[in-house]
Amino acid sequence: MKESLFIIWQEEDAMGIPLIDEQHRGIVSMINTLYYFMKRGDAEREQQRMLEMLEHFFAVHFIVEEELMEAAGYEESESHAAEHERFLEELRQLRASIEQVNEPLQLLKSLKSWWLDHIKVEDAKYVPAVRKLMENV
Ligand SMILES: [Fe+2]
Repeated sequence: MKESLFIIWQEEDAMGIPLIDEQHRGIVSMINTLYYFMKRGDAEREQQRMLEMLEHFFAVHFIVEEELMEAAGYEESESHAAEHERFLEELRQLRASIEQVNEPLQLLKSLKSWWLDHIKVEDAKYVPAVRKLMENV
């Protein structure tokens, strides 16, 4: 079987906030593992497990981000948190419907593009405030 990754982590996407960067790399790793099981096509149980892991990990990752944004006094933290909540809801729906979906890869693609956009646009905005906070603790 041809080895391939669905997302390749780019070092330029690192934010210089070690805990957040590690969590982002962890998410890339989980999405790639989900992709591996999706390609197999006969691994529904494993796909469910990976989706559960992703859902739990995203939830705690978002809590960390929201706490840091809050502590840093970042002014858009509420709308950012609302984006997180919307995304978690989509993830829940994806997990609930994955067995009925004909094109799960299509769903994985939208998950990937939402998340990469989110990192590059929304997360990038809190970086200066949170980095400053981290330097002072
Ligand atoms: Fe975020």
